[in-house]
Amino acid sequence: MTDYTDSAPIEVRPKQPRDWLALSAKTWFIVTAVGQWLFVAYILVYFGGKFLSGGIPAFGETHLPNGFVPGDSFGNMALVIHILLAGLIIAAGQIQLMPVVRSRVPRLHRWSGRFYLVAASVVSIAGLYLGWSRERLIGSIQQDIGTSLGGVLVLVFMPIVLYYVRKRNFAAHRRWALRFFMAVSAVWFLRLIIFGWFLITGGIGIDAKTFSGPFLTFANFAQVLLPLAVLELFFRAERTKSQPYRRAVASLIFVLTGMMAVGIFAVTAGFWLPAILA
Ligand code: HEM
Repeated sequence: MTDYTDSAPIEVRPKQPRDWLALSAKTWFIVTAVGQWLFVAYILVYFGGKFLSGGIPAFGETHLPNGFVPGDSFGNMALVIHILLAGLIIAAGQIQLMPVVRSRVPRLHRWSGRFYLVAASVVSIAGLYLGWSRERLIGSIQQDIGTSLGGVLVLVFMPIVLYYVRKRNFAAHRRWALRFFMAVSAVWFLRLIIFGWFLITGGIGIDAKTFSGPFLTFANFAQVLLPLAVLELFFRAERTKSQPYRRAVASLIFVLTGMMAVGIFAVTAGFWLPAILA
């Protein structure tokens, strides 16, 4: 019998500490992907279906307070472009985030990236135009300022993302692309915040008739500022060697991702799924 004990010593590798930060980012990515593809399905099936069956006037039969305004053909066209393109940019954002696309199909990443940057800017300009040109039937001016901040940041971040791609500075490109993604996704975060809040508190701080109130003012700013602030904490955590700081940020991301999952469930069950099935 051969004695392996001397000739083949077993290599003992030092145990790697679990990378909670990377795990929290992966969990966030998966939950976000589920929620954003559901949003895409809602937009394309519900609004796309209306458009295919009845053209632009069919947007008057939707739940939108200002869906179709007779005589405002430019505004109506802007609304249809805003909404249908919104479905495509959310899908493009998901394609951009997929690591497998970046490594295996870089051409798709490049083309989808170009579309994402241009189309998200068009959606933001159309949104800003609609938000400030049409009569405000629900909500408040503070809420519109919060949502507009997201649109303005999309337009500010877009050339910076492009600049770093051209410079081939991929570390800076990644940081700005993620900031851009958060700004484009702000209105998606808003829906999770509002529906999650309704589910948990029954709508404290929301006047359901006028769709305004202190919680909605908070939510319209939080949709943009909260994801961007957490992203900055994540970037700092990636750079630091301090394990307590990394673990603290990872815990924060886990908690917020859990809250996002509640919001995704609430908006899907209460709004998107019924609209898709109808
Ligand atoms: C850039 C990302 C954006 C996306 C993906 C997006 C997406 C959408 C979607 C899906 C709708 C239909 C409403 C629904 O059924 O949920 C909508 C409506 C609307 N959005 Fe946006 N939006 C974006 C940015 C903006 C911005 C920056 C503004 C500026 C204030 C804006 C203003 C509006 C307005 C006014 C409506 C119509 C609401 C009504 O009929 O009264 N959007 N948007």
